Amino acid sequence: METIATGALEISESDLVAAGTRRRVYRHPQTADKVIKIFWDDQVPAARRARRRGRWFKSLARFDDNENDYRQFRRVERHFGTAIRCIYRIYGYVETTLGRGLVTEHVRNADGTTSDTLAEHVRKCGAGRVLPALEELFDELARYHVVAKDPHVENVLVRECGGGRLELVVIDGLGDNNVIPFATLSRRLNNRKLMRKKRSLLRHIWRINRETRLEAPSTDIPESHRPLQREMAG
Ligand SMILES: Nc1ncnc2c1ncn2[C@@H]1O[C@H](COP(=O)(O)OP(=O)(O)OP(=O)(O)O)[C@@H](O)[C@H]1O
Ligand SMILES: [Mg+2]
Repeated sequence: METIATGALEISESDLVAAGTRRRVYRHPQTADKVIKIFWDDQVPAARRARRRGRWFKSLARFDDNENDYRQFRRVERHFGTAIRCIYRIYGYVETTLGRGLVTEHVRNADGTTSDTLAEHVRKCGAGRVLPALEELFDELARYHVVAKDPHVENVLVRECGGGRLELVVIDGLGDNNVIPFATLSRRLNNRKLMRKKRSLLRHIWRINRETRLEAPSTDIPESHRPLQREMAG
């Protein structure tokens, strides 16, 4: 029988909120404001590193998504304080009955439900409402010099704040994956990289929007984004 460390936080599978390819996300058993991110057994950093060619040149830290997110969050928080909403808040580590986990903000809507991913939101509601929020997200990432290597449609959540207001929050893929952290060292390079990520995210949004809302009225897309829409579609 497996022994469980005393004092480990008890988590059951029924607390599962969502799962990605590397991590499972569980409701924190003591507070609805937080979730705990735990690696799948075969995705813990040491296991991933052991499978990679050229692993001897790569530090274990490069395979640790939890630590990379946490480190980036701390860096941004240290420089700009606690008011930042464009990335998820991270509180630290905890031992649980399912292994070590990262305690983070549970990104939720005004009514308390878990926020949809950007992909889910566009599938349900179309692209129209989310585009201004996307502009705000990337403005904020640039303003706070956040290095986000992987802001794709499953790694950005759409928070419904009430009164029709939407806010986008990056919940995965934070930090720099280069050996020399160019984007961390240079705001200019980071901004350029963010612009590229934004365009690729927009392309993905158009694709989902086109596939799921072929009948959507043209007014679905705000006027300011029409030229971009034509460019992406062409
Ligand atoms: N803080 C959070 N609040 C609410 N839901 C979350 C939160 N973090 C993650 N999720 C949900 O869990 C899913 C998986 O989380 P996450 O992207 O961190 O896992 P991952 O395995 O690292 O992802 P990937 O498959 O991109 O490697 C997300 O797509 C999202 O739906
Ligand atoms: Mg993810």
